[in-house]
Amino acid sequence: MGKCYPTLSEEYQKAVEKCKRKLKGFIAEKKCAPLILRLAWHSAGTYDVKTKTGGPFGTIKHPGELAHEANNGLEIGVRLLEPIKEQFPILSYGDFYQLAGVVAVEVTGGPEIPFHPGRQDKSEPPPEGRLPDAKNGVNQLREVFGRMGLSDKDIVALSGGHTLGRCHKERSGFEGPWTTDPLIFDNSYFKELLSGEKEGLIQLPSDKALLEDPVFRSFVEKYAEDEDAFFADYAEAHLKLSELG
Ligand code: HEM
Repeated sequence: MGKCYPTLSEEYQKAVEKCKRKLKGFIAEKKCAPLILRLAWHSAGTYDVKTKTGGPFGTIKHPGELAHEANNGLEIGVRLLEPIKEQFPILSYGDFYQLAGVVAVEVTGGPEIPFHPGRQDKSEPPPEGRLPDAKNGVNQLREVFGRMGLSDKDIVALSGGHTLGRCHKERSGFEGPWTTDPLIFDNSYFKELLSGEKEGLIQLPSDKALLEDPVFRSFVEKYAEDEDAFFADYAEAHLKLSELG
């Protein structure tokens, strides 16, 4: 399953394996899996199927794209990862950030996500405004993920990425984690979402939208009940996201 990129040299394949091991140690040690998953997602999530612009091609490291409002705080992720990237000059930034995203899920106990290298970096960042706004609801989610070519199931499964990490007032205006263990990748995001707002935990308007729409809600209920089903659908949706374009 997944995309078929052009055949890569043995040297490139080896660099991917070695880089994956380095990233595992680094991300675990720095406890930065949430920020790195957000970096990988914001890098890929700008893709537009119609114009074939945006997507996971390394442009997020450019100051112009980091300055997009949705990317507040991601310059920290780019900076953190740079010393690892420097050890693997052969890798494209597109491959490197997506590999880091896959590792972030794995090291926190999430599903294994297949990784296929071969993304060629682009020089042109996408226009501002392609990522979802947390203040919006059902329609905007369908519009934005639909533009990427992703389905309702993908939207809900990928939203489970908020099992990791937290909101920072100075980055997004929101504050607090979604779950009580923000460094553990499990299905607790869906359980918390169904159990209603609690002191100290956050639910963004875009999270709550998943309860309002009957199709979204049926996936939320399924994933809250069945972690294996969540992991299987998450891995499939993350693979698609990481290979947009
Ligand atoms: C569905 C639309 C989405 C919206 C509106 C949204 C919005 C947000 C917001 C506002 C934050 C807080 C940023 C901060 O203040 O630091 C955040 C953080 C985060 N998002 Fe999302 N997000 C969405 C989808 C996703 C997806 C698809 C993933 C990954 C699969 C993801 C992964 C994360 C992670 C891991 C964090 C925590 C970052 C940290 O702890 O530093 N989000 N998101």
